[in-house]
Amino acid sequence: MKVNIGGLALQNPVMTASGTFGYAREFDHFIDLNRLGGIIVKGLSLMPTSGNPPPRIVETACGMINAIGLENVGIERFITEKLPFLQELVPPVIVNIYGKLEAEYRQLTARIHDVAAIAGIEVNISCPNVKAGGMAFGVDPRAAFRVIRAVREQTTKPVIVKLSPNVTDITEIATAVEEAGADCISLINTITAMAIDIDTRRPKIANIIGGLSGPAIKPVALRMVWQVAQKSKIPIIGIGGIMSAEDALEFLIAGASAIQVGTANFVNPGITTEIIDGIEAFLTAQGIDKLTDIIGTLET
Ligand SMILES: Cc1cc2nc3c(=O)[nH]c(=O)nc-3n(C[C@H](O)[C@H](O)[C@H](O)COP(=O)(O)O)c2cc1C
Repeated sequence: MKVNIGGLALQNPVMTASGTFGYAREFDHFIDLNRLGGIIVKGLSLMPTSGNPPPRIVETACGMINAIGLENVGIERFITEKLPFLQELVPPVIVNIYGKLEAEYRQLTARIHDVAAIAGIEVNISCPNVKAGGMAFGVDPRAAFRVIRAVREQTTKPVIVKLSPNVTDITEIATAVEEAGADCISLINTITAMAIDIDTRRPKIANIIGGLSGPAIKPVALRMVWQVAQKSKIPIIGIGGIMSAEDALEFLIAGASAIQVGTANFVNPGITTEIIDGIEAFLTAQGIDKLTDIIGTLET
């Protein structure tokens, strides 16, 4: 079940998706956290952030829309309050970061680089770039290149870049971040969406627009992972609507070296270990010796 992604050695390919697993302690009484392949924590910014006003989550057909607004405790409180628990665990701790300016990404990375207990950085580039009039870093190849180059200059730790699906050609952005020095690509983040209450004629979430996640987005995510896998030389982490071992295996066959589980944690907080067991059982049943033998084996 072992896999190496961009310098991160994982005991299995199953990780937790940022923002759906808190800072891991929240799930300590549901699962054995030490069984996870990797833990990715809620997106962190330089300063604590309170996020958007409620309602911030609404359930939709086969998924949910969220507009949490990246509420988090900020990097310093994360290091002093959350990391002591996390660093005692077996799985590598990967910190997800975001900023509104390139300089914020640079500062966050420099801070993280000094912290030995953090194994790697996942860079969320789906955020609005204040200097570019609020357009997300991750929808423009040049902006994506620049922000990842800035991060790369600050650290030798593995850098995972998390791509936004809200683009016309995902491979263009993947190529740009690979050229900027990314070690690994994770995809996808949520798909821009909305829902309306017809009685009040108001949006179901206060921010009007949010991000769609869950089973509804799996086919889109799978298509994007496959497209990027055709072009990219660096490992890919598949994310989007993974609810079962079968879903995870689809991503691995499409070319992902590892996967993240997000919305499924809200439905079944024990799902990650069930997925690990399910993948292992599938490999055994198929007579496949090692997980890496199934990665990218899609026949077309
Ligand atoms: C409530 C919620 C909060 C999220 N917060 C973050 C975040 O802070 N940073 C980030 O990069 N992605 C965040 N995401 C996106 C997930 O990590 C994941 O990419 C997305 O939900 C798709 O996977 P899923 O369908 O398995 O949930 C969040 C998703 C949800 C549902």
